[in-house]
Amino acid sequence: MRCLRFCAGVLVCAAAANAQGLTGRWEARMDTVDEARKIVLALTEQGGKVTGYMSRPNSTAAPLVEGAVSGNTLTLVTETPGRGGRGATTPPAPIRTSYSAVLQDGKLVMTMPAGRGGVVPPPTVFTRVSTEAPKPLPPPPPRIALTTYQPVPYNGMAKAPPMGWNSWNKFASRVTDKDVRGMADAMASNGMKAAGYMYINIDDTWELDRDANGNIRTNSKFPDMKSLADYVHGKGLKLGIYSSPGPFTCAGYEGSFKHEAQDAKQYAAWGIDYLKYDWCSASNVYDNGSMSQQAAYAIMGDALLKSGRKILYSLCQYGQNNVGEWGAKVGGNVWRTTGDIRDQWQSMVNIGFSQQVGREKFAGPGHWNDPDMLEIGNGGMTTTEYRTHMSLWCLLSAALLAGNDLRDMKPEILEILTNKEVIAVDRDKLGKQAVRVSPPVPAEEAAAVGRSTTGGEIQVFSRPLADGGHAVGLFNLGAATAKVTAKWSDIGIKGSHKVRDLWAHADRGAFAGEFSADVPSHGVVMIKIK
Ligand code: GLA
Repeated sequence: MRCLRFCAGVLVCAAAANAQGLTGRWEARMDTVDEARKIVLALTEQGGKVTGYMSRPNSTAAPLVEGAVSGNTLTLVTETPGRGGRGATTPPAPIRTSYSAVLQDGKLVMTMPAGRGGVVPPPTVFTRVSTEAPKPLPPPPPRIALTTYQPVPYNGMAKAPPMGWNSWNKFASRVTDKDVRGMADAMASNGMKAAGYMYINIDDTWELDRDANGNIRTNSKFPDMKSLADYVHGKGLKLGIYSSPGPFTCAGYEGSFKHEAQDAKQYAAWGIDYLKYDWCSASNVYDNGSMSQQAAYAIMGDALLKSGRKILYSLCQYGQNNVGEWGAKVGGNVWRTTGDIRDQWQSMVNIGFSQQVGREKFAGPGHWNDPDMLEIGNGGMTTTEYRTHMSLWCLLSAALLAGNDLRDMKPEILEILTNKEVIAVDRDKLGKQAVRVSPPVPAEEAAAVGRSTTGGEIQVFSRPLADGGHAVGLFNLGAATAKVTAKWSDIGIKGSHKVRDLWAHADRGAFAGEFSADVPSHGVVMIKIK
């Protein structure tokens, strides 16, 4: 290998000059979780071109569709199966990811793509563990097409949308047992439990592998799941967990494919009360069409029912295949309707205002649309915007899963999350999801469920309540304060009605025909019409 010493003393070796070049198996520790979790690069270099694959624990290896060495720099493009977007059918478009690595002191130092929120992880350092040329990857097995399933009976849960906390938005793969206990402590004592929050949900990255009998094992971040569940239950709260119908989860951890009944029993034995079941790699093994997806979700729905414990079932397949039409039939209590939310105004607006249209007909006691977890308090939006986020989610009868660090929360954030008058709208017994009444939704948009619509800067959402009243959100998505009017004719009522402001906790008097308010930019005035 040809090596050059630069003035800083760094030794850089030119890969291409080596007779064998980069050929061989290279390994890098994947993250901080478990030492055994490695990313593998299997490379064959020939005449400046590189072929092979990249693989992560539990995941199907991603072949290199491009690979080249120039000087001491290696550039690669991998291809992984796509998981499909809203309304996706077979097969989803593959995802191409570019990487570049520099050979330094015999190690490949690779820049990884940015993760959640655009954060670029530290470079990953690969060490060569073998110089043997890797065998070519076998072709992937054909995708399974499931053609039928038995509808799963209703489990009697989620009469109102579930409320709680989920680890993903704030912690992603860093969540630990200690954090989860801390969230339970906080929720039990800071007023959230009193406001109705109940579930403490561990998202992806608690999994390790399976023992000789196929039982799922937790990784070192979660040394004892049963003791954790006991702890959370001891606070009067419930514990949730996460898995995938595929062989591995979206973060590359062990999934439940072909272990569904065993996993459901394990969850029950640990004392788990909620399962988020995320499609992820299931698109590599199933054909991703509507029937296969339904049947795959029904396998776990049935397994949970037979697990011996009441476990709330949350489907996460990003709203594909018009999930509202069949989510309840596969045993789901709640189903995601979109891709992942981010802690940004535009992301919240796209998901909450633009992509929920037409879905209201599928929501009701026992089964709810899920526009994804809350970002309130994570720092990417203003307090006004977080109030808008909370108001809209409550109008939409959404699951209210806080996504921030509950141990460290500003008073105004806690106030937003625990506004009982607003939460009462979310949990109203009638269970009728709000619709946009102004500007009215054109019939063809309502029929094309979930199709993105804009609705403009001034929007009014309304929902009828069990006591005969209405909850109404007067939203201003524009850049300056604006007057927003809720017309009784749009809401479907007549005459004079008392109005209460649910954020100001103040009665505003009786109004005939309409109610107007000056609403700040990106803000809301949320009222109850009695
Ligand atoms: C998907 C889901 C997210 C989260 C991550 C975990 O992206 O949509 O909500 O669960 O997987 O890997």
